[in-house]
Amino acid sequence: MKKLTSLLLSFSFAAAMTAQAAVPVYLDRTKPIEDRVEDALSRMTTEEKIAIIHAQSKFSSAGVPRLGIPELWTDDGPHGVRPEVLWDEWDQAGWTNDSCIAFPALTALAASWDRDISRLYGKSLGEEARYRKKDVILGPGVNIYRTPLNGRNFEYMGEDPYLAAKMVVPYIKGLQSNGVAACLKHFALNNNEVNRHTSNVIVDDRALYEIYLPAFKEAVDSGVWSIMGAYNLYKDQHLCHNQYILNDILKGEWGFDGAVISDWGGTHDTEQAIHNGLDIEFGSWTNGLSQGTSNAYDNYYLAMPYLKLIKAGKVGTKELDEKARRVLRLMYRTVMDGNRPYGSLCSPEHSDAARRIGQEGIVLLANRGNVLPMKLDGHKKVAVIGENAIKMMTVGGGSSSLKAKYEISPLDGLRKRLAGKADVVYARGYVGDTTGEYNGVTTGQNLADDRTPEELIAEAVAVAKDADYVIFVGGLNKDNHQDCEDSDRAGLELPYNQDALIEALAAVNPNLVVVNISGNAVAMPWVDKVPAIVQAWFLGSEGGNAIASVLTGDVNPSGKLPMTFPARLSDVGAHSVGQYPGTPRNDGSKIVDIEYREGIFVGYRWADKNKIQPLFPFGHGLSYTTFDYGKATIDKTEGTADDVFTISIPVTNTGDRAGREIVQLYVSDLKTTLPRPVKELKGFKKISLEPGQTETVTFEISRGDLSYFDADKHAWVVDPGKFEALVGASSRDIRSKVAFKVK
Ligand code: BGC
Repeated sequence: MKKLTSLLLSFSFAAAMTAQAAVPVYLDRTKPIEDRVEDALSRMTTEEKIAIIHAQSKFSSAGVPRLGIPELWTDDGPHGVRPEVLWDEWDQAGWTNDSCIAFPALTALAASWDRDISRLYGKSLGEEARYRKKDVILGPGVNIYRTPLNGRNFEYMGEDPYLAAKMVVPYIKGLQSNGVAACLKHFALNNNEVNRHTSNVIVDDRALYEIYLPAFKEAVDSGVWSIMGAYNLYKDQHLCHNQYILNDILKGEWGFDGAVISDWGGTHDTEQAIHNGLDIEFGSWTNGLSQGTSNAYDNYYLAMPYLKLIKAGKVGTKELDEKARRVLRLMYRTVMDGNRPYGSLCSPEHSDAARRIGQEGIVLLANRGNVLPMKLDGHKKVAVIGENAIKMMTVGGGSSSLKAKYEISPLDGLRKRLAGKADVVYARGYVGDTTGEYNGVTTGQNLADDRTPEELIAEAVAVAKDADYVIFVGGLNKDNHQDCEDSDRAGLELPYNQDALIEALAAVNPNLVVVNISGNAVAMPWVDKVPAIVQAWFLGSEGGNAIASVLTGDVNPSGKLPMTFPARLSDVGAHSVGQYPGTPRNDGSKIVDIEYREGIFVGYRWADKNKIQPLFPFGHGLSYTTFDYGKATIDKTEGTADDVFTISIPVTNTGDRAGREIVQLYVSDLKTTLPRPVKELKGFKKISLEPGQTETVTFEISRGDLSYFDADKHAWVVDPGKFEALVGASSRDIRSKVAFKVK
């Protein structure tokens, strides 16, 4: 009997072994991804490989149905999961289960200077993406803020490569922890929207490596799974198939193992697409972004035209295998990951996350006479003025447009928070953009108003005159030539007569608060007449709640500017050197050369070098409490470039309420061979302090923080000599410094 049992057992074991052996490697979850990728590749026909390297619909690419490998679904990005569109169109599919939580714009995230908040952002967005069955989110973007006119700055992370690099990585990790790939964009040198398909950027290697690439590189080093080529050109090649940027740098120097995805309609040539680093083509529909045919996807540059070249023996299959391998790897990391979580949509946790990100990112720019926080003793009258107090901002702006499940406007947020404490009265003040529609998603708001500017101002002034507080909520919006894809702003000024309105309000009420909603710096000719100014960005679903919590002091503001607010356009490097928006070639090619002549001197680096006083400097942001910085100390005053120098500084909350401070470290190279910026951000920490509490903040400075890119040597070098570590509350508010020598 015993014998029989053991015989049966060994039979069933053998059967199980055979069954297990029957699982092909590419489907075997216990096998390493690389083995599975190679096995899948070895089973695929040339046609199947071609099928997975180009789109099959507006946002998806084909899987390998014969092998059970699913389709890959992408979606924008970067502030929430874009609603479903028709198979072949940008128009809405008309689903009713595709609303999302709109998270704050990436400028707001960057302004939080909070790595944990960035991780929370990515994680929450990834959960929404998973629930909506998306495998790749088209974002985040880290193009450097070169000019305040760039219509897409609101989707990026500011002017400083170090800040953008440190802030983008946790977002990507949080997102990808859901088995959803980030698609980092737009790689690279895509710093304005005007002429975005025809601008050819001319930039020296030093600025390329020191300013425009570091955030991308850090994301690649941290394991981002896909990256999107930019629309524009560099060295006369479109960036979706660019030998220098994609092959030499991204895949060569940096060893990127993920997939390069074209921007939608960013592919222009089959041969270049084959050879210059592109892996998967989206949105070329066959003629740029505009025209299609019934078999549009077959006509993609990486579809039949590629197959024909292979069949005719004009190109080999080495490149095809490499593209398919990278796309498969992306699939195994996402849609083929059987263990990824299921995600969640519009959960209370996501609302909380959206609000917290907004609260951490709001920047208190000015607060003379401590007008803020609002004092709510007794019953108050609060006048809320301005279109942006009521306007839905999650619709519009281009591909980042969302169908938010809800959006709390600043007026609604204030009304809710002030209920029972104040009468809130509203006046429009100005009429800006009344459209409220994008790709078929409508806000449902009717903002039509045909009163004259004079009538609107008169009404606002009448409402504001006897109010205890006047909260003006204005700024930009998501219309063309505002903060919007595919066009740039016409100037630095606030549009729609807002300056005149603000002046009129300031003249009748000293308790005026200007809340500026934008993704870009704006000119503020009234800056000295308005006691309190708040930079509130585009804050998504929870915007109104976040703003109300900061104005009333429920939350102590702690954001700091991720970009310089210049006083005037000519104070910006790109404009000062006359290199925006570039020079048309006039050779019939439509190409516009744009030469980044300001080189590495972008943002505060330009202002510092030229001793320009900005309206508000990079890194600036106030609190309702005060922080005292003690003396910075260093663990050694001399060492080699391979030593680590440790800087410490005690920071004390000297006010009477808890608050958060962003302590910033800048490094200054005092003895240099090549010109260097006066100082560069090389560290930051956001700390929370109770009243009276002191924390000693430490920073480490190592080789990477001391070096610059020597274009002739094509290497990062450290010049021996004297350096300074500057610790401060902004780039123009250095509280303590300490010198050290590198041998
Ligand atoms: C934008 C991308 C976006 C893509 C898909 C393009 O026009 O530049 O950022 O991800 O469209 O919507």
